[in-house]
Amino acid sequence: MERKDSFTIIDNRTGKSYEIPLVSGHLPAPELRQIKVDPEEYGTMAYAPGFMNVASCKSAITYIDGDRGILWYRGYPIEELAENCTFLEVAYLLIHGELPTQDQLQQWEQSILDNYDVPEDIKNLIGTFRHDAHPMGMLISAVAALSTFYPEAKRVRDPENRMVQIRRLIAKVPTIAAYAYRRAMSLPYVYPDASLNYTENFMHMLWKPPHRAYKPHPVLARALDVLFILHADHEQNCSTHTMRSVGSSEADPYVAVAAAAAALSGPLHGGANEAVLRMLKEIGSKENVPAYIKKVKEGHGRLMGFGHRVYKNYDPRARIIKRMADQVFEVTGRNPLLDIALELERIALEDEYFVTRKLYPNVDFYSGIIYQAMGFDPSWFTVLFAIPRTVGWLAQWNEQMADPEQKIARPRQIYTGYQKRSFVPMDQRVAQAATA
Ligand code: CMC
Repeated sequence: MERKDSFTIIDNRTGKSYEIPLVSGHLPAPELRQIKVDPEEYGTMAYAPGFMNVASCKSAITYIDGDRGILWYRGYPIEELAENCTFLEVAYLLIHGELPTQDQLQQWEQSILDNYDVPEDIKNLIGTFRHDAHPMGMLISAVAALSTFYPEAKRVRDPENRMVQIRRLIAKVPTIAAYAYRRAMSLPYVYPDASLNYTENFMHMLWKPPHRAYKPHPVLARALDVLFILHADHEQNCSTHTMRSVGSSEADPYVAVAAAAAALSGPLHGGANEAVLRMLKEIGSKENVPAYIKKVKEGHGRLMGFGHRVYKNYDPRARIIKRMADQVFEVTGRNPLLDIALELERIALEDEYFVTRKLYPNVDFYSGIIYQAMGFDPSWFTVLFAIPRTVGWLAQWNEQMADPEQKIARPRQIYTGYQKRSFVPMDQRVAQAATA
């Protein structure tokens, strides 16, 4: 039989048949609209809450094979990048598409370094938050506020201009995060140190004591750098989708990154690392693990740090982090929560509930234990996710802006409300139970 790159759909309501040509091997949803019973009706739509199994773009940045537990950035396996690269080298790869040469890397590092500092008024803005403000709220607000300092960022169709904003954002997000951290501790702003690499400089801005020099521990700095590499991109997740959705209206990248960070902050996404720590604390000891798992299986809450929309196998990032934990604990001392986490993983991976649903530890399961051992409060964990993910958001946004097939995001809905009804004047209304 001759192979045709199309589907034939038979509408059993009318007996009509439609031949729909595939796009890159997939069904183009707009074509479904021609399938209708009455020529006057709108036509058929695809229905997918949470965009399950719907591709919203073509992308050459990140590849995930969720069944085999594979993650590549620009074709390079995540394990090799984590082993051999610095975070800024990987950032260059994600943004530009190729690994940098030595010269290109030096120029790239310098261009980031030149942009570390933030405007004085951004520092003032951070200074206005309550002492107990959640760090993600501060980060989101301050990144959005950067938009007011760089009005030229609105020229999003200009590739050179986009690169200027990309470098600024990659450089300034850690500075904002570090100052928000200092602010919460009532400590003064620490100026960036140009002699340090990206991650070391971040640690310096966080932890430099007043009137004394600070040298980040090389093992911890490398561990944070690797964690940043692992979190840098993950194709079309909730926050990246938000970045593209906001970006599709040609909003500037500062407000788009702020929106993406807001999406990241939820406990089902980047907020999961914080939720994992709280869960491990609540469990309290290895002995309580079976009872906790029983509760989850009975529908009381979820095992945080477990499960993934795409991975139906061990998350390769979780495997790298788990191995790295030992190196970190040699410096910091062992985090006692690790024993609870290991026991949780051991029992869950043998349990029929988790096995049949293919629920494995994800990136957030072990990262928080390392962050806590390094000295971060759990409320900061999602900020540590947002810093490297800013690179992924920007790479995806840059790709989107250059993609002629992209359009403003505008899903449809299946309307389930009333049909047209007559307006009821106030004096004739009767209180009704709320319907939504
Ligand atoms: N604990 C217990 N049961 C779970 C869990 C979990 N963590 N995750 C999924 N399930 C069950 C769920 O109850 C459902 O069972 P049933 O079929 O009996 O109704 C089944 O597994 C499928 O779950 P789903 O909610 O339809 O899956 P999803 O793809 O919509 O959700 C997820 C993916 C990541 C939101 C979910 O697994 C989850 O809530 N995990 C915990 C939060 C978490 O760790 N999030 C971090 C994700 S990785 C980092 C990132 O991208 O941000």
